[in-house]
Amino acid sequence: MQTDALAGLAPAKVNLYLHVTGRRADGYHLLDSLVVFADIGDRVAVEPLAEGRLRLEIGGPFAAALDGDIGDNLVLRAARALRDAAGRAELGAAIRLDKNLPVTAGLGGGSADAAAALRLLRRLWSLDLGNAVLKDIALGLGADVPVCLDSQPRHMTGIGEVVTPVRGEAVLADMGIVLVNPRQGLPTPAVFRALAGRFGAAQPLSELPADAADVVAALAARRNDLQSPAIELCPVIGEIIETLGATDGVLLARMSGSGATCFGLCADRTAARSAALHLRGARPDWWVAGGGLWQGREEP
Ligand code: C5P
Repeated sequence: MQTDALAGLAPAKVNLYLHVTGRRADGYHLLDSLVVFADIGDRVAVEPLAEGRLRLEIGGPFAAALDGDIGDNLVLRAARALRDAAGRAELGAAIRLDKNLPVTAGLGGGSADAAAALRLLRRLWSLDLGNAVLKDIALGLGADVPVCLDSQPRHMTGIGEVVTPVRGEAVLADMGIVLVNPRQGLPTPAVFRALAGRFGAAQPLSELPADAADVVAALAARRNDLQSPAIELCPVIGEIIETLGATDGVLLARMSGSGATCFGLCADRTAARSAALHLRGARPDWWVAGGGLWQGREEP
């Protein structure tokens, strides 16, 4: 990469709980969810390219899962949308995506990649576009992209587009998270279909207790309503949750998003890393990663 290249992390999104409370006339589901970001993610790098050319190169352990539809990749759609909004067709970029996260995995990877591309390209191209404009562009790309622009703990309602800061989020800063995926993709629409209208009650948690043990208790009293339908489609998820729950240092085990990735919440990142090490040894067929919660330290 040249010296004028910019790079940043596209952190994995984790739903600490996810309630599905109803369905709109257009088929989209109403949600109540607490979302956090892990310091585990894809990596996006951008550098200038002449004459309005946009190029995307994908590498990393899960690159093969994205083969075939590069032109339609959300990262390129983000680049085009940003350029259009700025009215600057002459701007070009070479974009490199290191796909470290499993895809169709309940981690919002594609949305995180698009958000990282928007942040990085705004800087690379020195665009005078405010955060509100960037959010609008993000929303045009997908309901999850705006929340990924912030990559901070957020309470989410509506169909995922109503996003508010979480009071008392500082308690999360020291906690750790371990992510486990069975290397099986699980398409979101199929999981919502399998839910088949079994909606649950909202239990909004927009203010966190000051003590980590109370946070875990508050989360344990909540659910991921997509977990049972996901297990019906992909039974190994049940095994992952059981295994995570029995792992030293894991305080809470649950599925994220529409799966199949599950998370274990730990007291700190050291506990999460040693849980990950143990799980990787026990189940080399699973994708396992451990770390802390993303604090936005590495602002690109
Ligand atoms: O937002 P995303 O593109 O990941 O959504 C994929 C699919 O998941 C949608 O097409 C829809 O079938 C389902 N979905 C839903 N309600 C939501 C979000 C997603 O039914 N709030």
